[in-house]
Amino acid sequence: MLVTESIDDLREQVKEWKRQKLKVGFVPTMGALHEGHLSLIELAHKRADRVVVSIFVNPEQFSPDEDYDSYPRKREADLEACKENRVDAVFIPSVAEIYPDEDFLEIRVKGLGDHMCGASRPGFFEGVLLVVNKLFNIVNPDIAVFGQKDIQQYRIVSRMAEEFNHDVKILKGEIIRANDGLALSSRNSYLSDEERLLAPSLYRSLKYLEKQIRGGVSEPGLLIEHQKSELEAKGFEIDYLDLFSFKDLKPVKKLEGGREYILAGAVYLGETRLIDNILIDN
Ligand code: PAJ
Repeated sequence: MLVTESIDDLREQVKEWKRQKLKVGFVPTMGALHEGHLSLIELAHKRADRVVVSIFVNPEQFSPDEDYDSYPRKREADLEACKENRVDAVFIPSVAEIYPDEDFLEIRVKGLGDHMCGASRPGFFEGVLLVVNKLFNIVNPDIAVFGQKDIQQYRIVSRMAEEFNHDVKILKGEIIRANDGLALSSRNSYLSDEERLLAPSLYRSLKYLEKQIRGGVSEPGLLIEHQKSELEAKGFEIDYLDLFSFKDLKPVKKLEGGREYILAGAVYLGETRLIDNILIDN
């Protein structure tokens, strides 16, 4: 397994694979790898001949009041996990390797970033797209895998690949959960024991709403409000809990046949932000 901090070295390796006509799969991460990340690596192995994983805690996607400094960094354990999962190359650059100069250009997200996490984390998706754009140009993958866990990120990255004509196919990996339903996340390590016990309530609320919708409810607004109150009563602070259109990521009041929707929530439990979602095709 190649482990490198260098853009040039990574490029050389990928060029060599491409000379051999091997298909290159890419899984971008911020490290602190868990079973969710590993499932994306597994999917990349199924769809490509060689798999590159990047590990980079991207400062551009954290606002000053967010957890950039305390974000878990587990270099050795991550490299071990990559090796065990037959990763072919790990790109683990320094901040200076990725952002060497003063910036003159930025990417602006319109429309798809207006709601959900985009509304409450200004600059977040701009930071994600900046780094993913760079990583795509560095790695030059044939396929890249993103998790449904961050559904808005998946949608926005897919749009970027289309609009910027990146020659890469974007794949979506399913959400991997703990036994009690909590979606795995590197940030779950922030939860206290007590908070960890409460944390699956978000998924339970989404599951409940999904059941009602699949059972025929087409205007779930009141049910959603009720679930929000229940979560608040348990001690969650709600950022959003709502039904969104898969296509444009706008909130939806009434479901219509033949469309795809996302039931999604973001909540705070103490200092920890949890997100989760369920896809619904009606
Ligand atoms: P990170 O949070 O490390 O996530 C890396 C990838 O793992 C993302 O595509 C995310 O959706 C996926 N993932 C996270 N939890 C998952 C779970 N429980 N099941 C399945 N997949 C899961 O997302 C980022 O990093 C960054 O924004 C990045 C794209 C690397 C750009 O900096």
